[in-house]
Amino acid sequence: MKRLAIYLALALATASVNAKDWKVIRFGVDPSYPPLESKGPDGKVQGLDIELGAALCAQLQAQCIWVEQDFDSMIPALKGRKFDAILSSMTITEPRKKQIDFSNKLFDAPARMVALADAKLTPDAKVLRDKRIGVQQGTTAETYAKRQWAPRGVTIISYANQDQVYADLLSKRLDASLQDEIQAEVGFLKTPRGQGFAFAGPSIKDPETLGQGIAIGLRKGDTDLKEQLNQALAEIRQNGTYQKLTHKYFNR
Ligand code: ARG
Repeated sequence: MKRLAIYLALALATASVNAKDWKVIRFGVDPSYPPLESKGPDGKVQGLDIELGAALCAQLQAQCIWVEQDFDSMIPALKGRKFDAILSSMTITEPRKKQIDFSNKLFDAPARMVALADAKLTPDAKVLRDKRIGVQQGTTAETYAKRQWAPRGVTIISYANQDQVYADLLSKRLDASLQDEIQAEVGFLKTPRGQGFAFAGPSIKDPETLGQGIAIGLRKGDTDLKEQLNQALAEIRQNGTYQKLTHKYFNR
């Protein structure tokens, strides 16, 4: 029975590629980014993006399927049709817009540096000179750090996922890390692992590298899916589901 359901879902997914009605939506996700997307003890993906995706699918009477993918290869995988949309805290940026399309914005996403509370670091290249800063590969934080800091004598180290960035921050192989502020606050600083660490300096906004907020990434040409997701997003904002979820995860 279960197998039949999976075959049916796959058949529908394939059939829906050019259809107006998306009965199955496959989302690409890199679950190393709590509280937005992570993996629970049961091995299942969880977090704000997962619940938002589920709410959008419910609104569209579609089935949500989550496909794990390293963040760095998210766009090629989307283009290669491994899944239909990216729901993985992906920021809207001009270079990405040349390759893919985006839904309306889900949240704002300034970046912010994290370091030991007594490290006295700020995101000033002069202060960071000779320091080692960790970023996740393929992210806006990596682009910013490589452009603003690397040419001025700061060592930038890229990691396949955000968990590894924090692991090296904890073991002091890094002096600081740069990532989305909301992820660092809720997914690291407010957790037991984050004890002794704090934001180093204010949030960084740089539209050119750090983009214009987080959204769902879509293939150019899948405008029907984009319109349906935007419509569903407007509806879950209207009926309070969106606010309930952001409050649950961000406590604001
Ligand atoms: N917002 C940043 C970007 O778009 C980082 C997103 C990382 N997401 C993840 N699931 N690891 O580049």
